[in-house]
Amino acid sequence: MSTFTIDTSTSRATPSPVPGKRMTAPAIRARKAHAKTEQPIVMLTAYTMRMAQLLDPHCDMLLVGDSLGQVIYGLPSTIPVTMEMMCAHGAAVVRGSWHALVAVDMPFGSYEGSSEQAFASASRIMKETGCAAVKLEGGEAMAATIEFLTHRGIPVIGHIGLTPQAVNTLGGYGARGREEAEAKKIISDAKAVDEAGAFCIVVEGVMEQIATSVTQTVSAPVIGIGASAQCDGQVLVTEDMLGMFERTPRFVKRFDDLASRITEAAAAYAAEVRERSFPTAEQTYRPKT
Ligand code: KIV
Repeated sequence: MSTFTIDTSTSRATPSPVPGKRMTAPAIRARKAHAKTEQPIVMLTAYTMRMAQLLDPHCDMLLVGDSLGQVIYGLPSTIPVTMEMMCAHGAAVVRGSWHALVAVDMPFGSYEGSSEQAFASASRIMKETGCAAVKLEGGEAMAATIEFLTHRGIPVIGHIGLTPQAVNTLGGYGARGREEAEAKKIISDAKAVDEAGAFCIVVEGVMEQIATSVTQTVSAPVIGIGASAQCDGQVLVTEDMLGMFERTPRFVKRFDDLASRITEAAAAYAAEVRERSFPTAEQTYRPKT
């Protein structure tokens, strides 16, 4: 278990012992060789410095997902998320991590207009946060943009299948690929993003056999979420995985029940404040004797 010393002037937290080199996009890409990934890639979302510190030793990649719109800001979808939000949280996660590659989501409206718009947004995100990669949603329609970015020094993670920024065209957050035509489209999207040079591809909310087939077909590692255990890695929204919400998608496994534990701790604090049993001598300053 690491401990941290925080430099309050820079907010930089130095772990002790200091871990080795940070993961890179080529190192993640190289985890899949000859269509196989011996060691599955571990990815979780992080939006804050402290959460990044706690997750970093266990993850290959930390994703500053635009899911922060719902998780942190209580927005109804990812659509209203701004560049300012992504840059502020991205910088905090980079400051709180040492080992994992940090990737930041490109918010809706910051990249779809043209490759040039995408380059301006992605380069701003990288300059302001210090992250090593960006993620953007879309398959064939985004292939030219992914190629443009990767040829200009920006490692890109693709995101296909259920793409939450397209909720208004998809009509909801249901699993994708139930119909044959849609299943074929997801596979063509995966191939297009792979050929365009994405160093890995998030496949979200698709029928299990599509995710397995995509994983076997493309050369880049496939990171599943609501996909298949056969993917080259997995990602979850950390707050979902920790049990912070009562309602989560079917594909979420709760590894803890933090909502109950926080509720219990808040209730215990409130009771002690009301009965004046907190603070005690241990938590108060008294003249030295
Ligand atoms: O925004 C996000 O958190 C994501 C993951 C769910 C993959 O895109």
